[in-house]
Amino acid sequence: MKGIVLAGGTATRLFPLTIVTNKHLLPIYDRPMIYYPIETLAGMGIREVMVIVGGKSVGDVVELLADGAHFGLDLTYRYQRGALGIAHAIGLARGFVGGDDFCCVLGDNILRGPALADVAGDFAAGSCGAGTLLYEVPDPERFGVAEFDAAGTLVGFEEKPQQPKSDLIPIGVYFLRPDAFDVIDRLAPSGRGEFEITDVLNHYIPNGGLFWRRYEGSWTDAGTVPSLLRAAEMAAGDASEGRLLPPPPRPGQ
Ligand code: DAU
Repeated sequence: MKGIVLAGGTATRLFPLTIVTNKHLLPIYDRPMIYYPIETLAGMGIREVMVIVGGKSVGDVVELLADGAHFGLDLTYRYQRGALGIAHAIGLARGFVGGDDFCCVLGDNILRGPALADVAGDFAAGSCGAGTLLYEVPDPERFGVAEFDAAGTLVGFEEKPQQPKSDLIPIGVYFLRPDAFDVIDRLAPSGRGEFEITDVLNHYIPNGGLFWRRYEGSWTDAGTVPSLLRAAEMAAGDASEGRLLPPPPRPGQ
């Protein structure tokens, strides 16, 4: 399995913090934000990773992560012009992915908990076309939101609904296969002008084609001021509880 981390976008919700720098370089406790999704992919046993970069300070992102050897990874990069959406950014990795299954982690998603190697293995071994992890949040209207029928079957995702139909959201961890690129090619932009990952996931839901699990660890995004603070508290909480993060890797080590 290959990996993708998305580190583009404009990060306007964090202005003025992100007027002159890339959101994914902001500190979350003892390391830059982008270390967390990189370490999430490394924890799955993935070694080949493409980072999609865009927006501000792209050179600084590359300087920080370099060739990825300090994470035990082989990193490569692709530039996204504009911020046309998560599905658009994933589409840029088509040549890198080739014929392999892959996992995309959003660059502002902070996961603290069990490594996801087993989940990735279950997806790879199964026949579902796509997969994601669901997590309960108090403010689902900020995210994609899962909808279930009376029998408890997942029937769809709605992106940022005004009236959420559940409090379970797909976090920014997506398991995909190469045919997802054909799905992305056929997408139309949403009302907010983005190619939405929830539309890709919805494509696979009929006939049980979407693999999903509840995420059992702690999760937050870090794309707003309150969630940026929550992310740091989550990481620091690990340290104070004696569940220390391993030291952040540095280039050249
Ligand atoms: O965090 C989970 C949520 O992420 C999901 O529940 C939603 O379904 C999904 O749409 C997404 O919602 P956000 O509104 O939080 O996504 P955001 O625009 O903040 O982008 C998430 C990451 O993807 C961010 O780190 C930047 C990167 N990105 C985003 C866009 C729009 C790109 O690399 N390129 C882009 O064009």
